[in-house]
Amino acid sequence: MQTLSSIRLLRELLGSFRKTNKKIALVPTMGNLHAGHIALVTEAQTKADMVVTSIFVNPLQFGPNEDFERYPRTLAADQAKLFDAGNHVLFTPSAAEMYPAGMPQTLVHVPGCTECLCGQKRPGHFDGVSTVVTKLFNIIQPDIALFGNKDYQQLTTIRKMVNELFFPIEIIGLDTIRESDGLAMSSRNGYLNSQERQQASKLYETLVSIKNTLESGEKNHSRLIQQGIYFLEKAGFLPDYLEIRDALSLGPVDSNSQKLVILGAAFMGKTRLIDNLTVVLNRGGV
Ligand code: PAJ
Repeated sequence: MQTLSSIRLLRELLGSFRKTNKKIALVPTMGNLHAGHIALVTEAQTKADMVVTSIFVNPLQFGPNEDFERYPRTLAADQAKLFDAGNHVLFTPSAAEMYPAGMPQTLVHVPGCTECLCGQKRPGHFDGVSTVVTKLFNIIQPDIALFGNKDYQQLTTIRKMVNELFFPIEIIGLDTIRESDGLAMSSRNGYLNSQERQQASKLYETLVSIKNTLESGEKNHSRLIQQGIYFLEKAGFLPDYLEIRDALSLGPVDSNSQKLVILGAAFMGKTRLIDNLTVVLNRGGV
C-alpha cells in the first residue's frame, strides 16, 4: 500500500493507472478507522481494480464549537487496518494541501436537503462536506465512490450534488455497521465513558421501536416522535432532533412517500451521536 500526501504525486500515480483502463474507487474518510470504514474498503475492492482511501479531518465541515481539535487522529493504526484490508493507496493530505489559499474559498452548496436536520443544527457543515468531497473527486477522478448510510443526510447530499453537477462517478451507499448492542460504529463513540457507552445503544433502540410501530401501520408520526424523545431523555440523552422524513428527498412525508427514514441526533454527555433507519411503506397511506 502506498501512502501519499501530495496531490501532484497522487495524480501522477493514478494517471498512469488510468491509462490501462482500470477502474478506480474512492473511500473518503476522516480516519480513526473502524469496521464501518473497512466494510466500505472491502466492498470497493469487489467493484474496482484500485481502491484509494483518503484520510483528512476536514476543518471546513466543523463548527467553531465542535470537536475538530480533539477529533481522534490515529494514522499508524489506520494504516495497519487499511494494509490488512488490502487497500491500495492511502491519501493523507494536509490542510495546506487541500486549502492552499486558506479560508474562505470556493464552496459547493447543495440546497434543499441540507437545510434540515444536521444542516440546521450544524450551519455550514454540509457545505464543508460537499466542498471537500468535490475536491477529492477532482483530485482522484474515481469511477465509483463509496459512502455509509450511517450519515444518511450526507449521502443524500452527495448523491444530489453528483447528479446535478454531472460528476461521472457512481455513488454506492452501504449499510451501517453496528456494535453487538446495536450502536452504530463511529469515531465519536470513543469519547463516551463506560456509563455513557452503556446507555448509547438506546438511540438505536428508539429508532427500532419507531420503525416497528410504523411497520405495524401507525400513522400518527408526531406521537411516535414524542414517545421517542421521552425514551431518549429517560436514557440520559439530550435529543438534538428526532424526525421521520421522506427517504428520497429528506423532505416531509407526504402521500407520495414510498420509503421513510427515521433520523435521530442526540447528545450523550458532550458526545453527539447520529443514527437512522429506513422503513419501506406497505402502501396503505402514511
Ligand atoms: P467519516 O465520519 O470518517 O466517515 C467516512 C465514511 O464512513 C462515510 O461515508 C460514513 O458514512 C462511513 N461510515 C461511518 N460510520 C459507519 C458505519 N458505522 N457503518 C458504515 N459506514 C460508516 O463522513 C465523513 O468521514 C466525512 O464527512 C467525509 C465524507 C470523509 C468528508 O470529509
